[in-house]
Amino acid sequence: MHPEHPVQPIAFTHTVHLAKRMQCTTCHVGVSQGPDAQIPNVTFCMGCHMVIDTNNPEIKKIAAYQARGEDIPWVRVYNYSPSAHVRFNHAPHIRAGVACSTCHGDMTKQTTAERKVNLNMGFCVECHKQKRVSVDCDTCHF
Ligand code: HEC
Ligand code: HEC
Ligand code: HEC
Ligand code: HEC
Ligand code: HEC
Repeated sequence: MHPEHPVQPIAFTHTVHLAKRMQCTTCHVGVSQGPDAQIPNVTFCMGCHMVIDTNNPEIKKIAAYQARGEDIPWVRVYNYSPSAHVRFNHAPHIRAGVACSTCHGDMTKQTTAERKVNLNMGFCVECHKQKRVSVDCDTCHF
């Protein structure tokens, strides 16, 4: 397993962006559509940072990634090892009104994401039982 708060290539901060009233879905565009929430690419960041905070050394690093034609190599925070054969899908949870913070903690208090919640099997199964969602093995495993 990876560390709870991995070192990231850019000192991104959820706190600052969320304080500007940005929505999760502005950046994580896939979250209500399908399995993956998605992390935005460097071009998306530069859409604002071409003009916002351009003298900040961190923003200069982002511009340099773009100039080299590279994406920002973010280190993943939440993900299962392939050997766990877990099948997860964001969309039905968002439709059912499960808050992001249930599974990811309060992002307004996080710079880069930290693994605040242990998304182990017991955590998933407990809520599925409570909400009468299927707990058949093949709901969550392939
Ligand atoms: C919709 C516009 C917008 C987008 C898109 C955006 N940002 Fe920002 N970002 C801002 C604003 C506004 C600030 C605050 C600037 C300030 O306070 O001067 C900021 C601040 C920052 C800072 C400085 C934070 C600090 O400590 O002051 C970093 C680093 C940053 N953004 C990285 C990113 C990255 C990486 C992306 C892409 C994943 C991104 N931003 C996408 C608007 C945006
Ligand atoms: C029921 C728990 C749950 C909820 C609710 C949830 N997530 Fe997730 N999220 C996960 C799990 C589990 C993963 C890891 C999935 C994997 O590795 O296959 C994940 C991964 C992610 C990732 C990594 C990139 C990706 O495409 O998977 C992002 C970003 C993310 N979630 C954002 C969000 C946002 C934004 C919301 C709310 C709109 C949200 N999540 C709600 C459980 C949840
Ligand atoms: C300005 C764009 C932006 C906004 C707004 C934003 N995020 Fe993120 N998010 C990112 C970036 C960039 C990363 C990758 C760096 C990191 O791990 O923090 C990320 C990472 C994450 C991760 C960890 C993904 C993984 O598994 O590696 C989660 C969970 C997450 N965001 C949830 C949220 C939630 C919930 C919200 C709304 C409350 C939100 N984010 C709002 C840009 C954003
Ligand atoms: C807080 C409650 C809660 C937690 C925690 C939770 N789920 Fe769910 N899950 C739901 C609800 C509610 C639905 C939607 C059922 C529906 O659409 O009728 C759902 C649906 C699903 C579905 C789609 C099932 C289908 O038949 O389409 C999968 C797959 C799933 N969850 C996997 C997981 C996994 C894996 C975890 C742990 C990372 C998890 N869930 C954690 C409440 C939860
Ligand atoms: C609601 C979702 C869900 C259901 C239902 C579910 N699992 Fe899991 N299971 C998970 C998740 C998530 C993990 C990964 C835990 C981790 O890596 O931290 C996991 C991990 C496992 C593992 C790997 C060992 C471990 O405990 O981490 C086994 C074996 C397993 N599940 C078997 C089963 C069997 C057998 C069933 C049916 C009786 C089942 N699971 C039903 C979500 C689920």
